[in-house]
Amino acid sequence: MAKKVKRKIKIKKKNFTIFIVIISLVTFVLFELTFSVVKMITSPKEKPIEEKKTTPKKEETKTDPKLDELENINEKISYFRNDNIDRYINYKRDNPDLEITQVIKNVNMDLDKEHYTGAKEAINLNNLEILVNKYNYLKDDYVPNNLENINTQYALSNMKLVNYAREAFERMAKDASKENLKIVAMSTYRSYSYQVDLYNRYKKKDGEAAADTYSGRPGFSEHQTGLAVDVYNGKVNYTDFETTKEFIWMSNHAHEYGFIIRFPKGKENETGYTYESWHYRYVGTDIATYIKENNISFEEYIATK
Ligand code: DAL
Ligand code: ZN
Repeated sequence: MAKKVKRKIKIKKKNFTIFIVIISLVTFVLFELTFSVVKMITSPKEKPIEEKKTTPKKEETKTDPKLDELENINEKISYFRNDNIDRYINYKRDNPDLEITQVIKNVNMDLDKEHYTGAKEAINLNNLEILVNKYNYLKDDYVPNNLENINTQYALSNMKLVNYAREAFERMAKDASKENLKIVAMSTYRSYSYQVDLYNRYKKKDGEAAADTYSGRPGFSEHQTGLAVDVYNGKVNYTDFETTKEFIWMSNHAHEYGFIIRFPKGKENETGYTYESWHYRYVGTDIATYIKENNISFEEYIATK
């Protein structure tokens, strides 16, 4: 009997121990679960603060290689213009094979823009550095100061240039005549209204697209500056001036009098016009010599000075 009671007590003890172990396990699991839930609720609030600390803004801009290239070149290129930085980036993106210096030059020349649309009013009025082209126009009432008639010994009748250009032209034609060469001014200052008639005539004859390759639209012609002159030798048609001895002489000497060939061969993209061997522009001897020695267009001179 006593043995039976002892056994019963033993079984009860064993069950109690199992019960305690189960209770402990359940308590532990519940505790872990509660801890995880609390962690989940509190952690999202802390995360963004940590992210902000580890990603500084500067690093985002530094990863743009195009911008980096421009930032570095900024100090080396004297003609880098801060105002044009967005245009440099866009032009480089559209022309990835171009050297960065060429990108800067082209944008400074406005080659990223459409002809005529978005053109600005020309600056440097009554100044040697006045630039009139398909991106820089003159208002219809602009008339340069000090226009004077060229001596008819060297010009057709009523040919006007700004006084200092007139004087330089006469000197040049006179020196050429000493070598039996004849340089005759046949188209010089042209008013806005004169250009309206001329351009419309060309447009009617050849169509707008063709006319635009050789004639300035009203306000966009350099002839309105009083610093441009078309020449011929009195015999050969002006369009064949390139075939004359006078052309060879002018190619070698025009810069000594301050004149440049304004629309040179190979620079059509920059000037916006086909080559004209007969059209000269007065810019003064310093600029003319620099342009000739460096074989650049007037556009490029203005864009890089
Ligand atoms: N022939 C030049 C481009 C002019 O008309 O101005
Ligand atoms: Zn001309």
